[in-house]
Amino acid sequence: MVPRRAAQGREVVASVAANSSNPLIDNVIRQVLAGDEEFQTFGSSLHSETGMADYRFATENDPHDPETVFWQTRWGGNFVFVSKSKDLVRETAEQFSKSGFLLERPIGHIKQPFKFLPFLGSKIHYFIARKMQLIPPGDITDRFTYMVELSVDKKNDRYVVTKRVPTDEWVINRLKRRWPELPYDTVEKRAKKFTEKIFPLFLTREAAILKILQEHLPHEYRNRVPQCVHVEKDSRGFVRLMQMNWLRNGGKPLRQLEFALQAADLLRAVHDAAEVIHLDLRLDNMVVTHNGVGFVDFGSAVRVGEDISSNPLLATLYGELMKTSHIQRMLDQMTISGHVTAEHICNSRGKVDKAVDVFYLAVQFNSPHDNPDLKELIEFHPGSDEAIALQQLTRQVLTPPDPSNPPIKTAKDVLKSLELLAEELYGAVPSLVAD
Ligand SMILES: Nc1ncnc2c1ncn2[C@@H]1O[C@H](COP(=O)(O)OP(=O)(O)O)[C@@H](O)[C@H]1O
Ligand SMILES: [Mg+2]
Repeated sequence: MVPRRAAQGREVVASVAANSSNPLIDNVIRQVLAGDEEFQTFGSSLHSETGMADYRFATENDPHDPETVFWQTRWGGNFVFVSKSKDLVRETAEQFSKSGFLLERPIGHIKQPFKFLPFLGSKIHYFIARKMQLIPPGDITDRFTYMVELSVDKKNDRYVVTKRVPTDEWVINRLKRRWPELPYDTVEKRAKKFTEKIFPLFLTREAAILKILQEHLPHEYRNRVPQCVHVEKDSRGFVRLMQMNWLRNGGKPLRQLEFALQAADLLRAVHDAAEVIHLDLRLDNMVVTHNGVGFVDFGSAVRVGEDISSNPLLATLYGELMKTSHIQRMLDQMTISGHVTAEHICNSRGKVDKAVDVFYLAVQFNSPHDNPDLKELIEFHPGSDEAIALQQLTRQVLTPPDPSNPPIKTAKDVLKSLELLAEELYGAVPSLVAD
């Protein structure tokens, strides 16, 4: 796949400056960020007023409380605060550093040139803080299970994703929220089982699966799944912390059909070349990067043909997972309501099977904006020809005329059908980039 062209630096700076109504911000952009490679690549998402930005700028007259800014900034994105008041910049910086952001460099200042006598210019203070946490400190979410954050890899001058077994406290809070009626002792015991046994086991498996993917995926797909770069193990050899390269969301938006095509293509490679089944292909576990659509979170993945039943703990855990996971519950409901009749999918209920991934992929590409991080990265117009055609394709996958002999069964079949659809709608498989 052809990587998308990075935004041209000068264009970005010029367009940002032209649209920014604030001279303080303009000056920081020109004097501090213009030469910055990251800004040149990611700075163009700057104008998204409503959505998540990779760069968000504020003066004291704009919203600058960390709670608001957190949800307007992409994971790993930068918040730049600018003011003539050094104290205000210092105070605000302190608040941000306690709210899931990292101040990568000390508070700085530049001169705002005075038009006629440049040496008389006044000082502009600023800080740049990067959003390192997925959710604000102290918040609880059902979107993720582990503690996942960005970390600085100083040696290689880059960011990596750190995924670690959550603390007892974190798990207790989540369990209490889910089952408020359970006595504390029971909650505590259950939490310990998760933090000491279940999560380390799954994280260990994930690290192993990531290795398999890097070994067996064709070269051109390897940068669309994480690569494990570091693990820390406990005394029993279980992984408690894993670091991966960061598949950073960004770039020009993809058409919905292009998103579906790329996801199906990647799933085909994961299934057929790497022989891995993901089993948790929710949109939360998908990214859209400069290299195209990627999958993360191979935490519940299995190898094709892997004998889960030979390990009693694994057998129990996968049994549980296949009953309780979001995907399986949805599959259950849709089978009961008649929205899924394809036999190979119905038969995969409660099992570790490629059909589970195919089922979920075919459902997901109809609502790509369910993951808020992907909103600006996938063009989705409900009711458009493309959206309707994709819905029809999903119907063919889930409820084929002859449920015992469905024409679209595997990820490869889905890909082929999507390619045909693209030919029909656009006369060709669309380019990677939406115009
Ligand atoms: N290597 C990665 N690159 C980019 N984003 C990632 C990566 N790993 C995780 N993420 C992000 O972090 C979130 C949580 O990580 P994930 O592995 O899915 O943990 P959990 O098992 O708790 O869901 C993902 O949904 C994704 O948004
Ligand atoms: Mg996940």
